[in-house]
Amino acid sequence: MSPPSAPKDKPKFYLTTPIYYANSRPHVGSAYTTIVCDVIARYKRMCGYDVAYLTGTDEHGVNIERAAEAKGITPQQLVDANEAIFRDLWKLLGITHTDFIRTTSAEHARAVEKLVLRTLELDRGRPDAEKAIYKAKYEGRYCIYDNLYVSDTPEPANCPTCGRDAELISEENYFFRLSAYQGKLLELYKNHPEFIQPDFRRNEVRSFVESGLKDVSISRKTIKWGIPWPGDPEHVFYVWYDALTSYMSGIGYASESKKDEEKFAKFWPADLHMIGKEIIRFHAVYWPAFLMAAELPLPKQIFAHGWLLFEQEKMSKSKGNVAYPEPIVKVLGNDALRYYLLREVVFGQDGNFSREALITRYNADLANGLGNLASRTLAMIEKYFAGDVPAIPEGSHQKVEVQQVASAALQAVGQHMASYNFSGAVQAIWQLVGAVDQYIAESKPWKLAESSDPEDRKKLGAVLWTAGQALRFVSILAHPFIPESTQQLWDRLGQSGRVA
Ligand code: MSP
Repeated sequence: MSPPSAPKDKPKFYLTTPIYYANSRPHVGSAYTTIVCDVIARYKRMCGYDVAYLTGTDEHGVNIERAAEAKGITPQQLVDANEAIFRDLWKLLGITHTDFIRTTSAEHARAVEKLVLRTLELDRGRPDAEKAIYKAKYEGRYCIYDNLYVSDTPEPANCPTCGRDAELISEENYFFRLSAYQGKLLELYKNHPEFIQPDFRRNEVRSFVESGLKDVSISRKTIKWGIPWPGDPEHVFYVWYDALTSYMSGIGYASESKKDEEKFAKFWPADLHMIGKEIIRFHAVYWPAFLMAAELPLPKQIFAHGWLLFEQEKMSKSKGNVAYPEPIVKVLGNDALRYYLLREVVFGQDGNFSREALITRYNADLANGLGNLASRTLAMIEKYFAGDVPAIPEGSHQKVEVQQVASAALQAVGQHMASYNFSGAVQAIWQLVGAVDQYIAESKPWKLAESSDPEDRKKLGAVLWTAGQALRFVSILAHPFIPESTQQLWDRLGQSGRVA
């Protein structure tokens, strides 16, 4: 039994969460993407990768302006307060991000400017009809809650995401010539099917692109709360051009420091942008096109997961049907929430969130399942061997089935993690927990302990040694999912240092 093998020269892995709107505090739905990415980051580190894990806050736009107005404070005060809440929550949840970006920071503004100036510079060499950025009049309907163009005509329309009336917008904007990228995007999806995952999402995006792309506005005159357009400060950047660039500014793009430059050179392009399904178009259509226009390398993969539903509806602040992580974590601990979200929701699909199901899972798998097995095994090792069960010679008295299940679990975890099938990985680990449980029940160490036959004493040692080794193995495999309890188990098994 050995842990996942580490590659010799450390390869890099760069993953991101979306940057969260800083107009309200995070709920379980928003914590979901961050928890998922934390599991991946921890797993990749254990596999020997040098991981950069970026998260952050999206702090511009009209909904921030409005939320601040409603509270009688400035937008800056609002985003400062909310950004602190996000940071505190990630700390409470034990999230191991390496970088955090705020779109109101100076380094981010510099990156957005640099990206657009680079594109404009490249445009100089392009014929007019192929210039990526141009100025024109925009009239259309726009949902300020979802930051979504609902229609490009002035007639009244409802937002397809939230159903509310979309607002009329009429002004001169800078446009990005998205229509010119249809062919290149389709080629990208064809040559790199892994670019959009899961597969059914790629098919949706492909159909959308095949049906024709409209150019998109990337600046606003009516909004004040944003990054000014270089050389034309009446305009501020429209939220998606601004927001998406955070994936580069967050790891040093446009920074003047040598260290950041090296960091960007090392980690860009991102290996994985993990997002929720409602923002896939921005990531899988706009973002590669923006980068193509700037002749920069494209991210390797966009993975769109489903929504956490509360009574069959998307959990969201605006609908008021939210659960918050803090009280759950206070009562049951971080691992319970992580375990539940990863075990219960089939990753990629929508999943229902229920407090009852969370408690049931916690009791069945963590408290009674792994917790109980660990306590019983450790108590017997203490009682019968004063806490120090002797190692047994390879092959003697060992239960090969336990070893086989352990090897199978290791292999299955590797396979499932490669496709981000978290529930599959967790189930494979818990099969090992079940196998050890059964092994103990069948070999009845408490009976062996009553015997005066020296062979039985050897057998007793073998049973507890095998169970202890299997638990050590479980604590490694399960560590990315339940880092706190596996570390405790690791310590109680007498192992030194950190699991990972
Ligand atoms: N600011 C943009 C993203 C810009 S990325 C360059 C945004 N922010 S958000 O706060 O609305 O959403 C951030 C993430 O939280 C998205 O991936 C979204 O899917 C996720 N979730 C918010 N509510 C959710 C659920 N109820 N369930 C699962 N994920 C959810 O979009």
